[in-house]
Parts: sequence; structure tokens; C-alpha cells
Amino acid sequence: MHEILQKEIQTYEKRTPKSKGAHQRALKRIPLGVASNYRAYDPYPLFVKEAKGSKLTDLDGNEYIDHNLCFGTLMAGHIHPAVVKAIENALKIGTTFGMPHDMEWELAEEICARYPVDMVRFGSSGTEVTMHACRIARAATKRDKILKFEGAYHGLHDTALVSVKPKEEDYGNENAPNSVPGGMGVPKASLDNVVVATFNNLGSVENRFKQYPGQIAAIILEPILMNVGLCMPQPGFLQGLRDIASRNGTLLIFDEVKTGAKLCWGGASEYFGVKPDIICLAKSIGGGVPLGAFGASREVMDLISQHKVFHGGTYNTNRVAMAAGLATFREVLTRANYTHVEKLGETLAAGYRKILSKAGLQAYVARAGVNGALMLYPQEIRNYRDWMKIDVDLWRQYWFGMVNRGVLAQPYWWDEQWTISVQHTEKDIDKHLAAFEEVAPGLAKAQQERGVAFVGAAGH
Ligand SMILES: Cc1ncc(COP(=O)(O)O)c(C=O)c1O
Repeated sequence: MHEILQKEIQTYEKRTPKSKGAHQRALKRIPLGVASNYRAYDPYPLFVKEAKGSKLTDLDGNEYIDHNLCFGTLMAGHIHPAVVKAIENALKIGTTFGMPHDMEWELAEEICARYPVDMVRFGSSGTEVTMHACRIARAATKRDKILKFEGAYHGLHDTALVSVKPKEEDYGNENAPNSVPGGMGVPKASLDNVVVATFNNLGSVENRFKQYPGQIAAIILEPILMNVGLCMPQPGFLQGLRDIASRNGTLLIFDEVKTGAKLCWGGASEYFGVKPDIICLAKSIGGGVPLGAFGASREVMDLISQHKVFHGGTYNTNRVAMAAGLATFREVLTRANYTHVEKLGETLAAGYRKILSKAGLQAYVARAGVNGALMLYPQEIRNYRDWMKIDVDLWRQYWFGMVNRGVLAQPYWWDEQWTISVQHTEKDIDKHLAAFEEVAPGLAKAQQERGVAFVGAAGH
């Protein structure tokens, strides 16, 4: 570990002894001491005391401007007043019934007004809705194989947990990457039914369709690959996928768990002008409460109406989630708020760029909607294999350096990105930039000593 990083971690440990204690206690009863593997990192994760608006406070009382926002789930910011009020009102009536109620069609109407779908079903997480999307696509096409992109994350079900973070030695050919299980327990049968291609490489997609003619039910993708920092689709890539899918009788699934709410009012279809067949939504549509949805044309969703595809769930449309979702769509994800966060996003990115150039740091800033990331590479990355070439310790120096200065610049892990909430202010952005201005010269120094990026393998 290089010297500046070592110092930042020492400072982190001095500032956060209560988090360390809480983690040690939790380790005895909870694997890794955390409830989701993504929350575990060395030397130990920050434990939270409370959060409000754009700020979060840890157990030791340190306050942070929060751009983690629960891995991008809180475009509303913490405990948004409209969401809280809606939940409080819902709680007076009941939490969950396992029976229909009229908030369901109200929320379905909101979703169908924004995204190019005719009908919707609800769930409680991103994993759940991408799983149902894959199943309905398989049913609609009477085919088993799903094409996904190397490095893409769509949740934790067996079809999704393939080639999420494959190791270099397991890659295989870029035009026909291997299907690599994301840990033990993924059945071989699932691997056989997941075909992997390379993001931003239409040739690799064409190649896979040639290898498996008439067998691919759906292409599933995040329109912006957000499991490798932030990787934009190159011009023509999404339309190219649309064309390939249509030509082959394959459905195109946009996993908009992240982009749906955060990119703009109408999500990726509006932003890029490409229409998928199925859309998956979760995270920020719930305003901080577990809520997911998947939608498609009437023809596809009728497979559920006709009892051909089974969909259910005890907690689906529980009143708390519906109330939070309605308040979020109506009072948080408004056109006025998109204008506000767009302005903040631009200010933050422009500020980073200025500081990068002043410090002589070889890196760039990627940004789309309320999301953005400092990308520690000499040139724009196009796919997962490019992303793997990051200097991980340099990135850790950035993250801990920012945390020590009161800014959670993004979730821990170099495959993530920042989120700006509607409750963030210009003052928050100024403070974020002031912290980065202090951190950047040390990054440039370490980079000069260690050589520019492309030095180590990423992955976790
Ligand atoms: C693009 C994408 N799809 C699906 C998921 C899974 O969502 P959840 O964690 O709610 O199951 C995530 C979570 O990070 C995601 O980013």
C-alpha cells in the first residue's frame, strides 16, 4: 500500500472507532458483519447513526455529504418530507393486505405515462423484477437463452449472476466471452442459458446470435453500464441492439433499476430515443422504500393475464411502498427537480474537470443525469475489460481521502458512481469540490509515482 493511502486509512481509523467496534460485534453473528456483500470493505465499513436530506452521520458523529445514497436508491434524498408524509398517512390505514387496493392502478398509470409500456406488475427489489422480466421474455419467445453483457449487474438470481465480475483468466474471447458464475451455487444449467457479449461491441452480439440462431429470448442490459463506474453506450450501440433484437425475434430488456428514475423524466428510452420491449424499475422509484416494477406491451404482459406466466409476491404493492412510490413520482421526480439536479450535476462535473486539469491528474469524469464518477483512466473506458485496468489503490486513496474530509463521494467500490439527490444544494456541491481540491494533488503525486492507471486488476 502506498504512503498517502496508508495515511488516509490511518486517519479514517482515528475518526471512526465506533464503526470498528460495531463491525467487530456484527462479525460474530452476520457473515462479513454486513447484510449485503457490497457493504463490506477493508479495514471496516462505516456504520450509520442517522441521515437526513443530503447528509448522513456515522456512529462517531462525523457528518458526510452523502452521494452514496444507498447505492443510488435515494434520488429523493434521505427522509424526503413528501415521502415521509405519504408513508405516515398510509400507516394509518394499514401496512399490507395481500389484497388489491386502488393505489396500484394509480402507480401503474404514473409508470405507463413516463415509460413506453402498456402494463405493469410490481415487486420489492431490482433482483425480483429482472428475474420476472427474463422469465416473461423466455415465455414470450419460447426460447431459453438470455444474452447479457460482461460486467453487467442485474441482481442476484441465477440468470443474472453470470459474468458479473469474471477474473481475467476466465474471460475467453472478447467476441464470445465465457459464461462465468458469480460465485458458487449458480447451476451449470443456468450458465448454459446465459450468453455473454461485450458492451459497446455490436460485433460480439452479432457473433453470439450466429452461434445460437433462434435460441436467444432476450438481450438484457443497463442502457448505461453502471457496474463499471459509469460507461456510456457509444453512439449507435443501443439502436444497433434494438435492430439485432427485432431482426431475430428477440426481446430487448432495459434494466433501468438505476437509470429509470435518475437519468431523466422518461428514463433511458427518452434520453437515448431507443424503445425496449421490457423495462425494469427499482431503487429510486421507491423514495427509500423497497419497490420494483416491470412493464411491457399489453401483448407480452397478457401472458400473465392468461395464466401462462406466473407472477406473485406477498409484499407486492404493500401500501407503504405504493404510498412512497406515488409520492416519489408526483413530488420528487418532477420536471422542476430534474432541472435542479441537472444543474448541480453539471456544476459538480465541471468542477472536477477543472481540478483534474489543475492537479495534472490523468483521469476523466463521466456523467449522466444525477450520476457521475471520477474515472481514473487515461482515456474513456468502453467495457468491463477496460474497467478492470484501474489502479485500485489510487481509487481507494480518493475514496478515503474524501470520506476523511466529510464527503461520501460515492458508495465504496470503484464500480460505483455518485448520485445527487433533489435535496442536495449548491453548498453541498461546493463542499464536495473543496474536498476534492484537497485530495487531487495527492492523487496526482501517487499517480506519478505509480505510473498512470492500467496497473492492477479490479474486481471484488
Ligand atoms: C442495474 C441493476 N439491476 C438490478 C439490481 C438489483 O437490485 P436489488 O439490489 O434491488 O435487488 C441492481 C442493484 O444494484 C442494479 O444496479
